[in-house]
Amino acid sequence: MCGIVGYIGKAGAPAVLINGLKRLEYRGYDSAGLAVIDDERVVVAKSPGKVAALSDRARSEWPEERFETCTSGIAHTRWATHGPPTEANAHPHLDGSGDIALVHNGIIENYRALRARLEGKGHHFESDTDTEVLAHLIGECDKGDLFQAVCDALHQVEGTFGIAVLCSREPERVITARRGSPIVIGVGDGESIIASDASAILAHTQRVIYLDDNDIAIVTADSVEVRDLNNIPVTREIAELGFDAEAAEKGGYEHFMLKEIHEQPECLANAIRGRLDFDLGTAVLSGMGTSPRELAELDRVVIVGCGTSLHAGLVGEYAFEDLADIHAEVEQAAEFRYRNPIIGSRDMVISISQSGETADTLAAVREAVQKGAFVMSLCNVVGSTIARETGRGVYLHAGPEISVASTKAFTCQVAVLLMMALKLGRGRRFSREQGMRLAREIETIPELVERVVAQSEKIRKIAADYADAEHAFFIGRGPMYPVALEGALKLKEISYIHAEGYHAAELKHGPIALLEQGTPVIALACDIPGRDKTLGNVEECRARGARIVGIVSEGDFEVAECMDDAIYIPRCHPLVATIPTVVALQLFAYHIANIRGCEIDQPRNLAKSVTVE
Ligand code: AGP
Repeated sequence: MCGIVGYIGKAGAPAVLINGLKRLEYRGYDSAGLAVIDDERVVVAKSPGKVAALSDRARSEWPEERFETCTSGIAHTRWATHGPPTEANAHPHLDGSGDIALVHNGIIENYRALRARLEGKGHHFESDTDTEVLAHLIGECDKGDLFQAVCDALHQVEGTFGIAVLCSREPERVITARRGSPIVIGVGDGESIIASDASAILAHTQRVIYLDDNDIAIVTADSVEVRDLNNIPVTREIAELGFDAEAAEKGGYEHFMLKEIHEQPECLANAIRGRLDFDLGTAVLSGMGTSPRELAELDRVVIVGCGTSLHAGLVGEYAFEDLADIHAEVEQAAEFRYRNPIIGSRDMVISISQSGETADTLAAVREAVQKGAFVMSLCNVVGSTIARETGRGVYLHAGPEISVASTKAFTCQVAVLLMMALKLGRGRRFSREQGMRLAREIETIPELVERVVAQSEKIRKIAADYADAEHAFFIGRGPMYPVALEGALKLKEISYIHAEGYHAAELKHGPIALLEQGTPVIALACDIPGRDKTLGNVEECRARGARIVGIVSEGDFEVAECMDDAIYIPRCHPLVATIPTVVALQLFAYHIANIRGCEIDQPRNLAKSVTVE
């Protein structure tokens, strides 16, 4: 995810900004840039790649005194969303006059319409970004008062933003604002530091002001004045940070995995935002680059991926067959390449990969391209190899996933697959009303997940009773079967407990022989078709001494009574229910691993991105 740093004070701004960006590196990014005011001009340095490359460039291209005399500036690490990670797309972006510089986190949803309007007025754009459009919009609104120009521009913007704005006319102030993307202002001794997260501030001060949504602040070296977007002053108290740099990187969470589990409501909102058309009852996924006719003519969907991405694909298989009435198959990417699969031009191959770099998935993509299939990707990392080679697809917008154990990528993958299935379904048998209903269900996903994340402490208490287990079984039916696989994968990779996911009906065909007194069985038994049969399987396990943790629907006390422990998820569409259910399993695995004292973020033997076959 992108990072913002702004500085105004008495020290040389370039070095402060670069050090601040380094503190934000853990968030993941692919280009960086900074702007300072020198001799009444905005000067900018940008570079693809790491902050170190940006620092080298500024040191080699800028005069040395600039590092001492320039005392205000803004900087950014960009994690590409609109356009590849090039120098042109890196922030800061300038307005048309070059007097105003902007860094921005978030997504300006109506940037296309704004860009067209500004182009009509003669504006010329150098990047693919939504941010440059906002910079030009601020310039267009500028009648001599930067603060008012920013307010006027933000009134025209739909979407999310955390921004910092610098103007050559007003070197003694930086304007910053937020809506849906965090901004915190460090109040130092004769200096102020603006950042998208506190880790960039800790070296300067512990005293901070957190902006709320729709706050806009005028920041000088000695003051912070907060107003709302209608220019009405608002009071924001100064708070003490009270944590160190390492804790700050993790946003106060003990591990990245826990942070990423908690981030899911926001990530899912980002993955879904702007992609549902409630009037037509469909999904708007322009990256797929397909016409309704092409979609209608497809014979089959083939999904390839590895690990967690493969499990998301298995949920997708149910979604495509159920919602889009199209034959769907899922294949391990590693197998696909060597099996000489029968694939043709009426098959859509969807490659799923968080990193977009997994060697087996990439090889499967190349094989599918060779065979003339319609190949698309579902990646999180923008500009990754798989995303580039497929050329079509849908990004997750989940933000960087640092924990090796994938969490937020999985839920965003499933959410995007549901939207893809909805889009395909509308070109086939789904009516407008059915589409509208499903779109409404998908829209609620972030809130459903929020309600599960809020149960973290309750889940920790349940997990404590199972932390000594040597083996565990996860069972489910229908779309909950792949969720059982994913729950088992999460538990085994971070807690080192031997865990297996099975279709609930399969247990009695062999694995039930392994059940002993007290063996944990995690039963995915929420109130969707198949629930009663799963309950029957639960009874079979109980009869052999297993201890059952049930994932059950809120208010389903009849089922909860069959369980030793119950974790409740909100009632929702059966396919949508896979998402809150897996979040409960992520928390269950996390707490068990933490109680066992495991190395959660970097489990033994595992790598975040597997670039070998
Ligand atoms: C899941 O927790 C693992 N880290 C792993 O299974 C992962 O999902 C797999 O290696 C695929 O990675 P990708 O999504 O980046 O292709």
